[in-house]
Amino acid sequence: MARVTISVIKADIGSLAGHHIVPDQLLEVARTSLAEAKRKRDIVDFYVTAVGDDLQLIMTHKKGENSQDIHGLSWEIFKKATKVAKELGLYGAGQDLLSDAFSGNLRGMGPGFAEIEIEERPAEPFVVFMADKTEPGAFNLPMFKIFADPFNTAGLVISPRLHEGFIFEILDVHEGKVVELSSPEEMYDILALIGTPGRYIVRRVYTKGEKEVAAAVSTTKLSLIAGKYVGKDDPVAIVRAQSKFPALGEILEPFAMSHLVAGWMRGSHHGPLMPVSLTDARPSRFDGPPRVVGLGFNVKNGKLIGPSDLLSDVSFDRARAIANEIADYLRRHGPFMPHRLGPDEMEYTTLPEVLKKLQDRFKEVET
Ligand code: 13P
Ligand code: 13P
Ligand code: MG
Ligand code: MG
Repeated sequence: MARVTISVIKADIGSLAGHHIVPDQLLEVARTSLAEAKRKRDIVDFYVTAVGDDLQLIMTHKKGENSQDIHGLSWEIFKKATKVAKELGLYGAGQDLLSDAFSGNLRGMGPGFAEIEIEERPAEPFVVFMADKTEPGAFNLPMFKIFADPFNTAGLVISPRLHEGFIFEILDVHEGKVVELSSPEEMYDILALIGTPGRYIVRRVYTKGEKEVAAAVSTTKLSLIAGKYVGKDDPVAIVRAQSKFPALGEILEPFAMSHLVAGWMRGSHHGPLMPVSLTDARPSRFDGPPRVVGLGFNVKNGKLIGPSDLLSDVSFDRARAIANEIADYLRRHGPFMPHRLGPDEMEYTTLPEVLKKLQDRFKEVET
């Protein structure tokens, strides 16, 4: 059996008409470079796409996770595409490239990535999720439902291969520490953490026993890395499907409810995470609402078969309709919380300046 690594590496390096879509010219840069890398056997296979203003490189290769070659290749592609974005005068050209020099690994450099190195099964189905106008914690709720909720994943109850449950690796982004918790035994502890998705993020999920990787989520926290607003860290995730992992439909089921996530306009508002097709991955209303695309692949000897645009299915139409209703309702709150994020979470704020300007006009009163 072959070991193969699936890497999904993404960055916003410039977009058309605002934080909207990646124009074809940039996709072309990525496709041409990856075709060349494939010809030279630096990678086995690839698929290039975009979700909103994020350019997505989906690659298979033999170099393992955190490979300097693969991260370096992606960095070069993002730099090349940034050059084109600047020539075209696109908005936010180079937005997610936080450093001028690549130092071996993309961690802390701006681009987001999810990677899994696996022993390929005879049939190896998996899903790549890509979201725009939100943050990595947006995947907490779906990951919990997929791997821990028996009302979502029937297999947890009725399949002997899933009945033991899964292990969650949770990252505390403030402390830069991870903790492994076991479901169902520690389910309430898991929920106590991941219900705060701005701080505790489901980073990986493993099977019990052999501890095989079942899922990975990108967890680069751009705003913390840069210490200032440089673009919300729109996340990606890889989830393996079938046999000892949840069935495809169990993986997609959570997206039939557009849960509320942080992001949307100026990275400073709550909105519903709308499941969409690639064609509809064009956030526009109030720069959103936030959205998620799911692409289904198989991989065989590293070669990618597919994809299928999974959330384009009509069975998600109702979720989209409800998401639009939620969006209408939330928008009527304008600048009020909880539509607008709390002061600690906003990517933009004028509050310090407003307070400074008004400091002499605040008068002591009896309360
Ligand atoms: P600018 O302040 O650069 O126009 O960006 C605003 C914006 O589009 C953020 O959502
Ligand atoms: P992106 O993070 O997708 O670039 O969007 C930024 C933003 O502020 C949109 O309003
Ligand atoms: Mg952008
Ligand atoms: Mg984006």
